[in-house]
Amino acid sequence: MSAFADKVVVVTGAARGIGRATAVEFASAGATVVGADLDSEALGEVGELALRLGGDVGDADDAHQIIDGTLAAFGRLDALVNNAGTWLLKPTAQITPEEWDDQLSTNLRSFFLLIRRAYPALAETGGNVVNVASMAAMRFTTPHVAYASAKAGVIAMTRDLAAEYAPEVRVNAVAPGPIDTMGLTAAMTPAEKADFGRRYPLGRMGEPEDVAHAIVFLASPQAAYITGATLPVTGGTELGVPSLF
Ligand SMILES: NC(=O)c1ccc[n+]([C@@H]2O[C@H](COP(=O)([O-])OP(=O)(O)OC[C@H]3O[C@@H](n4cnc5c(N)ncnc54)[C@H](O)[C@@H]3O)[C@@H](O)[C@H]2O)c1
Repeated sequence: MSAFADKVVVVTGAARGIGRATAVEFASAGATVVGADLDSEALGEVGELALRLGGDVGDADDAHQIIDGTLAAFGRLDALVNNAGTWLLKPTAQITPEEWDDQLSTNLRSFFLLIRRAYPALAETGGNVVNVASMAAMRFTTPHVAYASAKAGVIAMTRDLAAEYAPEVRVNAVAPGPIDTMGLTAAMTPAEKADFGRRYPLGRMGEPEDVAHAIVFLASPQAAYITGATLPVTGGTELGVPSLF
């Protein structure tokens, strides 16, 4: 029997990238998958979804509707994957207060809104939450202080809510490293891309499926004794600087 048969899972940011790969993997493990995304058109192309919900996850009404709509359709919730995110690569002096607020809204406030609304339903099923943080929360990688600050908040939120919601609901996170989703490599040839990946200890950039595997594991019964953890999915990128010898 499939690990997620009869389970209902919500994945935000499911229209593309890591969210889409995660939705597909949950569906192939037997879950009923609800996908939420700002981009309703792209969401419509994800055939594996049992329900598609639009809206901005940082908006309280929209976030609540994602949980309420799921419960209205399926009557239960077993896992919530907070994945929707947006990245602002900019020197700090150029970040406007509005851009700061937008980064914090999508990348941190939305997690609070969705988890708080989902908690009663998750507590009923013994469910769990998986938050998508980032290696950027743990190491400097490039100038994106609003993004890194929000992701550091996601790790703190994961730890605190894991303690507050135990034993009813487990709360974990993944911290992806360089994953080939953001268009950074779109202009590269396969050889250039392979060359780019060689700078990382495991010798390649990550694929969305690398992160999806970790998310589905943390949401599964195999992770029943894991809560409050942030699992790096980075190819070892954060381990240190390249050896001199
Ligand atoms: N790709 C990487 O290298 C990387 C590294 C570390 C962390 N992450 C994190 O992984 C998650 C997914 O990233 P990705 O690379 O798949 O990105 P992506 O841009 O490919 O996909 C993100 C999805 O989220 C949706 N989204 C954005 N803002 C939204 C909002 N306000 N409301 C609802 N939906 C919204 C987008 O429409 C998009 O479909 C993000 O939280 C990101 O910060 C990515």
